[in-house]
Order: sequence, then C-alpha cells, then structure tokens
Amino acid sequence: MKVAFLGASRGMGRSLARLMAERGDGLFLLGRDLADLGRSAAELQILGAPGPVGTAHCDLLEPETFAPALEAAEATMGGLDTVVVSAALFATQEQLEADSVLRGQLLAADFGNTVGFCELARERLLARGGGTLCVFSSVAGERGRKPVLLYGAAKAGLSRYLEGLDHTFRARGLVVVTVKPGFVKTGMTAGLEPPPFAGEPDAVAKTVLAAIDRGKPVIYAPPIWRWIMLVIRSLPRFVMRRIDF
Ligand SMILES: NC(=O)c1ccc[n+]([C@@H]2O[C@H](COP(=O)([O-])OP(=O)(O)OC[C@H]3O[C@@H](n4cnc5c(N)ncnc54)[C@H](OP(=O)(O)O)[C@@H]3O)[C@@H](O)[C@H]2O)c1
Repeated sequence: MKVAFLGASRGMGRSLARLMAERGDGLFLLGRDLADLGRSAAELQILGAPGPVGTAHCDLLEPETFAPALEAAEATMGGLDTVVVSAALFATQEQLEADSVLRGQLLAADFGNTVGFCELARERLLARGGGTLCVFSSVAGERGRKPVLLYGAAKAGLSRYLEGLDHTFRARGLVVVTVKPGFVKTGMTAGLEPPPFAGEPDAVAKTVLAAIDRGKPVIYAPPIWRWIMLVIRSLPRFVMRRIDF
C-alpha cells in the first residue's frame, strides 16, 4: 500500500503506522510538528517502511495546509492508494463548556475540517481509480451522551458523512473504513478513569489493519464496543437522562 497518514505521531495512529511499516507498506506522514514527524519517519523506516518516509505539515486547524500536504504525499510516493486520518482533538465536556475558543476549535477540527480533508483525499483517490480512506470517528457519536455531548456531536457528524461517502462512491472504487474506537488507553484519555473493556492501542491497530485489508465499512475497536453500543442505542431517553455513561 502507499499510505498518506494524518495522525501517526501518537496513540492508535502510531501503532497502526508501525504495523504498516513492519509489513513494508509505503508511508508518508502528515502532521503539525515536523520535527516530531521526522522522528516518527526514522523509526518507521527502521521497522521496515521503504525509505525515505516523507513528511509534510498538515494541521487540522489550518485547512489551507491540506491540499499541499496531500500533493506532497502523492508526488513523493508516485501515487496514493490509502489515506488514514487518526488525528483529532479531544477535551472533556467541562473544558468545552467553559472555553468557547477550545469548543470552536474542537468542533472545527473533528468535524468540518476533517470532512474538508477527506473531500480532498477522496478526490485524489478517485482520480486514480479508487482506493481506501480510513478515518477514526468514535463510539461517542452513536448516542447523545452527557460526558461527551460536544465531542460526540462532532464525531456523530463525521460518522454520518463517512457513511454517505461509502454509499455514494463505493461503486466508483472508494472504500471507506470508519473506525469507531471505544475507550482506548492513549495520550488522549490520559487522566480519565478507564471503564471496563478499555482497549490498548496496539490491539486496536491490528483490528483496524485487518478492516482496511478487508474493506470493512465500519469497525468497532475493541470489538466488544459494537455490543456495548448496541445496548446504549436501544436505551430509551428517560434512561439516558438518568445515567452518566
Ligand atoms: N483514545 C480513545 O479512547 C478514543 C476513543 C474514541 C475515539 N478516538 C479517536 O481515535 C483517534 C485517535 O485517538 P488517539 O487516542 O490515538 O489520539 P492521541 O494519542 O491523542 O493522538 C492524536 C493524534 O492527533 C494529532 N493531532 C491532534 N491535533 C491535531 C491537529 N490540529 N492537526 C493535526 N494533527 C493533530 C496528534 O498529533 P500531535 O503529535 O501533533 O499532537 C496525534 O498524532 C482520534 O480520532 C480520536 O478522536 C479515541
């Protein structure tokens, strides 16, 4: 595969990029800290990614960086067949209620700007006859829930957009893989109390890579979250108003 990867510097994205490198996939890293990306690129080359692993500046809060970053990835690798987006912002519901600037940034980065990035990636993949777009959304988008009201709203919009992409473009060769992690122990969730069934990034990465290889449209990770969310989606509103899940 020839993969442009936004979010490979940390967390689940880092684990997934390592698995790809180990099996020899071509990688090009997009992100907001070029020095950090350079270190990640060097590590991925040691693990087996064909070198040199290129990097380009791409910040979810700066949409003007998207097109040049994807252009650099495509030019350097001589074409792209896969684009992965695991980058996102997270903040607690309390932080988002208290800080309107942070709230605007998170809603823009995790919904509108991620959609904008995906639109550009989609155009490039379709121009070459298709490919795979794998994007990390969240189980937080499955139901309006007290602890993730705002973050979950952004992820709900993103999940619905990705579903529509799949319906619209699959016949033309675009495979959209929507990843819906439950709670996974990464920097994003550091300091939060892990619930039962919390996952590890390396295990999630294996699940996600298998889903990419099989072209699965939706994947829950860890997989048990599919059943947890099935129950949560079926709860009546009066129950949702009472519980703090
Ligand atoms: N962890 C969970 O429990 C959980 C649950 C549900 C869904 N998710 C979703 O799964 C995905 C991966 O989460 P994670 O826990 O692995 O996250 P993480 O460890 O916090 O890593 C987040 C990644 O996003 C990048 N990023 C943040 N802001 C950015 C920006 N403005 N522009 C470009 N890149 C930016 C970070 O790059 P820097 O190194 O530059 O900061 C980092 O590579 C996210 O979409 C997240 O919403 C996570």
